[in-house]
Amino acid sequence: MKKIFVTGATGQIGSELVPELRKKYGRDNVIMGLFDKQPEGDLADGPSEKCDVRDKKKIEEIVREYGVGSIIHLSSILSATGEQNPQLAFDVNMKGLYNVLEVSKEQSIEKLIYPSSIAVFGPDTPKENTPNETILRPSTMYGITKVAGELLGNYYFEKFGLDVRGLRYPGIISWKTPPGGGTTDYAVAIYYEAIKQKKYTCFVREDTMLPMMYMPDAIKALMDLAEAKLGNLKHHADYNLGAMSFTAGELAESIKQEIPGFTCTYEPDFRQKIADSWPKSIDDSAARKEWGWKPEYDLTAMTKDMLKNLKEKLKEEK
Ligand code: SER
Repeated sequence: MKKIFVTGATGQIGSELVPELRKKYGRDNVIMGLFDKQPEGDLADGPSEKCDVRDKKKIEEIVREYGVGSIIHLSSILSATGEQNPQLAFDVNMKGLYNVLEVSKEQSIEKLIYPSSIAVFGPDTPKENTPNETILRPSTMYGITKVAGELLGNYYFEKFGLDVRGLRYPGIISWKTPPGGGTTDYAVAIYYEAIKQKKYTCFVREDTMLPMMYMPDAIKALMDLAEAKLGNLKHHADYNLGAMSFTAGELAESIKQEIPGFTCTYEPDFRQKIADSWPKSIDDSAARKEWGWKPEYDLTAMTKDMLKNLKEKLKEEK
């Protein structure tokens, strides 16, 4: 079997995707690309390579040496870090993607999976049930690089026949690896602090509503899209993907049901403006129709599962 190369493999999504890919395709068929964070625990048990995606030669080397057939390109600077360092976000997100696209084209990669984000939307986009095809005028560097990334993905498909597939992830909530530098990070941090301190200070307002997704659904979506028949896909690098939407206050309330006495206060910072520019809910009917997308978790089921797993994890770390 040709190998699967995952960039950003020790990040929030990669560290949960890689074990699932290994389970399905075999340990030695999945090559982890990592920037500076080393794989830990079970993750360390398999091939990995240091790879800064800004270095095209290194990507070429890995693809050639391992006989890579598909790339899952996860390396990215997220929205909040991107606003603090827009030059870095441009460099990593744009140059990194361009390198991956070019290597994929030159070395005849069969499939390139490249997640996009709700960050492609902006203040002018309809907020409720946001359509797949709509106004894409983001106000963050992260969002700008994701819009350009989608367009490039579609361009490489049309122009060079490269099978690029992508989905617009909402905020992703998970307990194994914390997210880094996103606007939706509050929806993960709140669980940690609820267990550790029974209180949390949230950096967006109580009434801030955003689309969110639990990690098992995020992994399922990516793997299902990767396996979908090309002939069924009318879109390529830009599928809307929804699961649930809730306000920060509703999230806190769902935790309070499980941890009585938990309190949440709200002190919005610069990330509020980013959150306000994103949709409240997503129309993902194209993904449902073209490749059978269907999420499993709602807020209550996610909160129960998050707290159970996170409590065990934090106990073990003590
Ligand atoms: N979770 C991401 C962020 O907040 C959105 O893709 O930046």
